[in-house]
Amino acid sequence: MEKYVLEMKNISKLFPGVKALDSVNLKVKPNQIHALVGENGAGKSTLMNVLSGVYPYGTYEGDIVVNGVTCKFKKIKDSEAKKIAIIHQELALIPTLSIAENVFLGNEQSNAGIIIDWHKTKLKTMEILKKVGLKESIDNRIKDIGMGKQQLVEIAKALAKDVKILILDEPTAALNDEDSDHLLDLLIELKKEGITSIIISHKLNEVTKVADEITVLRDGKIIETLSKGIDEISEKRIIKGMVGREITDRFPKREHKVGEICFEVKNWNAYDHMDESKHKLKDININTRVGEVVGIAGIMGAGRTELAMSIFGKAYGKKISGTILKNGKKLHLHNVKDAIDNGIAYTTEDRKTSGLNLIDDIKGNICIASLKSISKGIVIDANNEIKVAEEYRKKLGIKSPSILQKTGNLSGGNQQKVVFSKWIFSDPDILILDEPTRGIDVGAKYEIYSVINKLAEKGKTILMISSELPEILGMCDRIYVMNEGRIVGELNSSEASQESIMHCIMQSH
Ligand SMILES: Nc1ncnc2c1ncn2[C@@H]1O[C@H](COP(=O)(O)OP(=O)(O)OP(=O)(O)O)[C@@H](O)[C@H]1O
Ligand SMILES: [Mg+2]
Repeated sequence: MEKYVLEMKNISKLFPGVKALDSVNLKVKPNQIHALVGENGAGKSTLMNVLSGVYPYGTYEGDIVVNGVTCKFKKIKDSEAKKIAIIHQELALIPTLSIAENVFLGNEQSNAGIIIDWHKTKLKTMEILKKVGLKESIDNRIKDIGMGKQQLVEIAKALAKDVKILILDEPTAALNDEDSDHLLDLLIELKKEGITSIIISHKLNEVTKVADEITVLRDGKIIETLSKGIDEISEKRIIKGMVGREITDRFPKREHKVGEICFEVKNWNAYDHMDESKHKLKDININTRVGEVVGIAGIMGAGRTELAMSIFGKAYGKKISGTILKNGKKLHLHNVKDAIDNGIAYTTEDRKTSGLNLIDDIKGNICIASLKSISKGIVIDANNEIKVAEEYRKKLGIKSPSILQKTGNLSGGNQQKVVFSKWIFSDPDILILDEPTRGIDVGAKYEIYSVINKLAEKGKTILMISSELPEILGMCDRIYVMNEGRIVGELNSSEASQESIMHCIMQSH
C-alpha cells in the first residue's frame, strides 16, 4: 500500500491579480481525517478545486498523485473516476427534487444502461441513507429538509459513487452542534471503511477533535502539517500558523453604555409562508435599548431567522400580527424597502441566495442598499462609491486585488464580509445580524466584532442571531432564548452561560 493516498506536489494557481496557491505540497495518508485550515482567502477551496478537476489540468502548475499514480484531471468526472468526491462550500443539491433524485443525479441507476430504474435507485438510496444515519423519506424534497440533513444527502451522493477520498468544504458551517457531531462521527465511521476525508473548517474545536492531521495554509502557502500523537495540537498553535501572530482575546472589549428602549416587537405572530396552518412565531415580545447588543439564542429550527425576516418588512410569513415600535412610535412595515427606510437592516444567513449579487463587483454590492447617500441628485457619484468601498475593504480586510472584483470570485468568507459591509454602510439604527460570522476566520471575526462594538458605542442597537454560543456569550448584553417559535427565556450577560441557555430550551419542551 502506498504511504500516501494523495500527494499534491508544488501546486501553483494564478487568478488575474492573485496568486491563490504558491508551490503547495499536501500529503494525505490513507484512512485518515485530514483537516485544511487557514484564513479567508488562504486558498483552501482553490486547492480542493484543483484536486477535484474543477480547475482542469493545464490551468495550474504541479502534480496530483493519487495512490502513486500521477493524474491529469480535465473535468470533475475524471476525478470521480479516481474515487474522489467534493462537497462544495455552497451545497449543490437541487431544492425541488427529492432526496433519491439528488443522490443519484448524474449517476442514475439504469437497466442495461438506457432506462432509469427507479426501483433500483430507491432501494440503493435507502441503503445509503441508513448508512449516513439520515432518517427521512427518500421522496421528500431537499427544500423541505434542514441544512444538517442536506449535508448528509451530499455525503450520500458521494457514497453512491463509491468514493475513497471525500472532500468537504466547511461542512459544518451551517450546522448546529448536534448535527455537526453526527456528521463528524460519520466521518470517523467512514474512515474505518477505508474512506479518507479532507475537511476544510473554521471551527477549530472540531478540527482539533477529529483530525488525524492538520495542514495550515496562509496566503497560498503551506505553513505546516501537524500530526496527532506527534505534534502538540492546540487551537492556539493553529491560529498562530493561520494568522502569523498570537491572538489572545477572541472578543474585543466594549464600553457598555445602555440607554432607553428604542426598539420593540410586541405580541408578534406569524404563520408559515407555504402552509398557513403552521403557527411559526407565537406571541413574541422582545425589545432592545440604545447601545445594546441583544442576542437570540436557540437551536436550529427555533424560528430565529423567521422572526428576523418577518420583522424586516414581512420578508417572511403569512397572517402576521403584532406591533413594531421604534422610539415609542409605531412602524408600518409592509415590505423590505419600508424597513430600510425606517433604519432597519438585516444581514441574511444565506449569502448566496439573498445576500449578494454575485455578478456585480464589491463596490456595487456594498453601495446597493445606500444609493441615496452616495448619489448626487439621482446620479450615483462614482468617486464616492469607490471611496466608500475602499474604506470597507480596508476596515474588514476583504481579500481581493481590487474593489472591482466580482463578488462571485471572492472566497466564501470574503463574500460574507461584503454582505456585512453593505449593511453597516447603510447606517441603520437597528441592525439585525443573522449568523454574522458564519464561514469567517478567527482574525476576521475579531474585526467584525469590533465593528459591532463601535456601532453599539455610537448608540445603535444590534439584534444578533447566532448558533455559536461562545459568540453570543462573548458579545451580548442580554440574551433571549428561543424555542419552537416562542421566547422561552431572557438572560442578562451576568447570568448567561452555555448551561443556563440550554436549561431554558430544555425546560420549554
Ligand atoms: N475564480 C476566481 N477568480 C479570481 N480570484 C479568485 C477566484 N477564486 C478564488 N480567487 C481568489 O483566490 C484566493 C483564494 O481563495 P479561496 O476561495 O481558495 O480561499 P479559501 O481559503 O477557501 O477562503 P474561505 O475560508 O473564505 O472560503 C482569494 O484571494 C480569492 O479571492
Ligand atoms: Mg473556501
